[in-house]
Amino acid sequence: MADLVQETAKMSVDAPGEKGTPQGSGTEAQPYATASAAMLAKGADIQLMTRKDEASPFEPISGAGQKKAKKLYEVAQKKLKKAEGHAAQDKERQAQEQKKLDESKKIVIQPPADAQPPKKIKILQGIDSRDMRVKVCGWVHRLRVQKDLIFMVLRDGTGYLQCVLQGPMTQTYDALTLALESTVEMYGVIKALPEGKTAPDNHELVVDYWKMLGKAPGGDDAITNKISENADPSILADNRHLVIRGETASNVLKVRSAMLSAFRTELHSLGLTEVTPPCMVQTQVEGGATLFKFDYYGEQAFLTQSSQLYLETCLPSLGDAFCIQESFRAEKSHTRRHLSEFTHLESELAFIDFDDLLTHIEQMITGTVDRLLADPKMRTVIMQLNPDFVPPQRPFMRMDYKDAIQYLNEHDILNEEGKPHEIGDDIAEAAERKMTDQLNVPILLHGFPREIKSFYMKRVPGDERFTESVDVLMPGVGEIVGGSMRMSDPDELLAAYKQEGIDPAPYYWYTDQRKYGTCEHGGYGLGVERILAWLTRRWTVREASLYPRWTGRCIP
Ligand code: 4AD
Repeated sequence: MADLVQETAKMSVDAPGEKGTPQGSGTEAQPYATASAAMLAKGADIQLMTRKDEASPFEPISGAGQKKAKKLYEVAQKKLKKAEGHAAQDKERQAQEQKKLDESKKIVIQPPADAQPPKKIKILQGIDSRDMRVKVCGWVHRLRVQKDLIFMVLRDGTGYLQCVLQGPMTQTYDALTLALESTVEMYGVIKALPEGKTAPDNHELVVDYWKMLGKAPGGDDAITNKISENADPSILADNRHLVIRGETASNVLKVRSAMLSAFRTELHSLGLTEVTPPCMVQTQVEGGATLFKFDYYGEQAFLTQSSQLYLETCLPSLGDAFCIQESFRAEKSHTRRHLSEFTHLESELAFIDFDDLLTHIEQMITGTVDRLLADPKMRTVIMQLNPDFVPPQRPFMRMDYKDAIQYLNEHDILNEEGKPHEIGDDIAEAAERKMTDQLNVPILLHGFPREIKSFYMKRVPGDERFTESVDVLMPGVGEIVGGSMRMSDPDELLAAYKQEGIDPAPYYWYTDQRKYGTCEHGGYGLGVERILAWLTRRWTVREASLYPRWTGRCIP
């Protein structure tokens, strides 16, 4: 019987097994979808019958139709043959690879018979350990495999070391299945590179023996498939534990570590003592709206917003004091400079006036940056991350709040409602950033209205509507420091609690500060992630935190 084809568009898209599909059998009940499908199934020399639609009878196909079908059939056949060829090649290749892998399992390497016992070193010690046999452990950071040569860059957190493997060491099962991020133990001699060749620290480890310690997956599960530079930010956030292995992220964390250390040295040199106040508290500092509350043995408690109140109590005990402590804010804002948990450097200074406070803040920032840049390794890392970085110059620009309002209006920078700013406005982040970026220097913005500032701030003598308060604004980031002089009079403080609707009872210890030998004092809080984002030119503070927390994100 002639083969039957139904060529209506409708039938050719039928589901498999239905009438007129390539799975047809050529009967009237089950025709093929196309003439070429029929030819593919039965060969080119068949008589084809076709019909226009289901209601019409099957008739022999036209000559042109038959010709066209044959052409399509030949093209399809060629494709099929090619695919079959590829499949065969793939199979052959896989078999060869499997054979090579099976054989590689028989290759066992040993340290050279005359090898010296190695000295175990960290990569950091590489330069001082050249030309002697060493053992180095680390993660495979980069990998380049040639015929019987493997170049890898090893990473151990202290640096990067190029390693060269050759001969049987490149043919073992572990070598053939080596993937990035595996942990390995390398033995050999570090040799200086000749002129013209480049590698970290201008040397490489000529490996004479190596061991796999922990194999990382290749293929679909390879690290390069989990995190790539262009991956979605939420995927990168989920995989922060892998992201921090990268050069940029780990460099930022290294600057962070050096910066914390430089802050401590600077503040110690200025005579401050470090303390560690509690994180679990029952008092608020910066308003109830951003408090994280929790149950503390049946009582309500909060995660601290700021250690300021505790630092103030340290003044009569230790003199000027500082802490580097986590602070917590249940921020509703999803901005690039807000975290739910941030590292807060706070200081408190006794027997000072407002000008002393501003001068101290300037010194603390510039002194810390100078210390960081004085370390050549750190300078290199900072300049790598932020090539245009220019250390800030003293004195910082000092700008009164009222002058800032005037500046914003003169430069057509509007408030959040799209209107000109008025005295009393809290300058919103966008406006503040615009002004700071335009001026492009660090600014000590001071004298904010009391309504928009915290209850404990000292009023400007002679103009009680304003406070002796200061924000440090940095180009690119905005506010990195908030500070003020504090009320030193107990009655004034009691009135401030009342005005703020704060029950003074849990604050008895803070109020006592004014009762048992009060003094003029002031201090500030500096957002470590914010200054780090400024210094290392990160787009967001999230990149300046080890495991950042923000609205809805509490993992990893
Ligand atoms: O201006 P703030 O809220 O001031 C205080 O907490 C004072 N009690 C500090 C003091 O005087 N001891 O916060 C101080 C700094 C801000 O300038 C900012 O750098 C940082 O802390 N900061 C945040 N950083 C990241 N995410 C947040 N949600 C932050 N909130 C404040």
